[in-house]
Amino acid sequence: MAETNKTATLTIDGNSFELPIHAPTAGPDVIDIRKLYGQAGVFTYDPGFTSTASCDSTITFIDGDKGELLHRGYPIDQLAEKSHYLEVCFLLLYGYLPKAGELEEFENTITRHTMIHEQMYNFFRGFRRDAHPMAVMVGVVGAMAAFYHDSTDIADPRQREIASHRLIAKMPTIAAMAYKYSIGQPFVYPRNDLDYAANFLHMCFSVPAEEYVVDPILARAMDRIFTLHADHEQNASTSTVRLASSSGANPFACIAAGVACLWGPAHGGANQACLEMLKEIGSPENIPEYLARAKDKDDSFRLMGFGHRVYKNFDPRAKVMKQSADEVLDLLGVENNPVLATAKELEKQALADPYFAEKKLFPNVDFYSGIILEAMGFPTSMFTPIFALSRTVGWVSQWKEMLNDPQNKIGRPRQLYLGETERDYVDIENR
Ligand code: CMC
Repeated sequence: MAETNKTATLTIDGNSFELPIHAPTAGPDVIDIRKLYGQAGVFTYDPGFTSTASCDSTITFIDGDKGELLHRGYPIDQLAEKSHYLEVCFLLLYGYLPKAGELEEFENTITRHTMIHEQMYNFFRGFRRDAHPMAVMVGVVGAMAAFYHDSTDIADPRQREIASHRLIAKMPTIAAMAYKYSIGQPFVYPRNDLDYAANFLHMCFSVPAEEYVVDPILARAMDRIFTLHADHEQNASTSTVRLASSSGANPFACIAAGVACLWGPAHGGANQACLEMLKEIGSPENIPEYLARAKDKDDSFRLMGFGHRVYKNFDPRAKVMKQSADEVLDLLGVENNPVLATAKELEKQALADPYFAEKKLFPNVDFYSGIILEAMGFPTSMFTPIFALSRTVGWVSQWKEMLNDPQNKIGRPRQLYLGETERDYVDIENR
């Protein structure tokens, strides 16, 4: 963290306090308030962390005004076009693009960790069949700590490494099993001759009764969806993982916390909510009614898949996703898809509407991903699990970075207390 020679001066009741300012390699300067309470006896107030950097990081950078997303400096559109998910995983985890031999070794390692402990199959069978796959994932990922004791010691770098590989490798197996269980089909074991995305499609869509050949174009589209969701700096679920980890919790518990946070409709749950919304709108002529509802302050309805805390120009992931949606629907011969037609018209009308322009609300990654996933055959309930499996590498990379950070301490926010001050207990007969 580079110190600048600039300081910020805070004056309270005539007393001045000098606060150091740090310079990032990109993005706004950061005022260091760590010693503020000790020196001035005040807290800062920032619900939702809209102006607060909770850590320093070298993994991912977003410029929300430019609509730019960089992983270790590389733009997401270049990675989506030229790289593939496991290479991006290596990049996020280790900080550089691997040489051919390094990539081969990494891919081999991940591939050889895809099976889950056989006893976990019984654990799955304890869930209701109609459980949401995210509910199953929160439980099963957390339960990995009960099955992989040999990679829960966070003080041992080798165990940390093994836990990260296990999580990245087993998450598709867990997500696919959650799906198979919900539709009453037998679990499908992973196949090590397939690549990461093709293997996931195989585990989701093959059945023992007949051969299933993975279409390479669909596998490529799946891989691109994984890549586009791989990391997104200090978003809600990643911050949840970091906060859980700050107490020294084991990696599986921390990632389960991330999965739980991701589930919400304002975060990873938006892809499911968006497709459901597009279906509810039904056809382009109903759009004005829904736009009016989204703008009405007395109506809690929001355009799902629209808006972002950081992107105030466009979401670069949404651009790639939109292009992918066209390609996949074309490949699958889905013509005149009413959901895609509604989505395109909704995007057009919303972007032309002063409300959305003034508030800088643009389509985000979730706006088009659901259309692709549905065309591939996934039910809406699987959209967020697919986001979770893709984001696992981001969570794991940020978790590892945090554990290597000498400044790491337990996350413990303060509060602006507005409740009663001290008062005496009143006996029940006197209340
Ligand atoms: N539809 C209508 N109005 C909106 C929307 C929307 N989707 N998003 C924000 N606004 C309005 C909001 O009402 C507020 O208006 P005002 O200033 O008059 O009160 C203003 O825009 C700012 O909104 P905010 O809620 O203060 O912004 P935020 O940064 O806290 O929220 C967000 C960001 C993504 C939660 C929000 O835009 C949203 O709820 N979007 C829909 C859900 C969604 O698509 N989430 C996926 C995010 S991308 C993937 C991921 O990160 O998981």
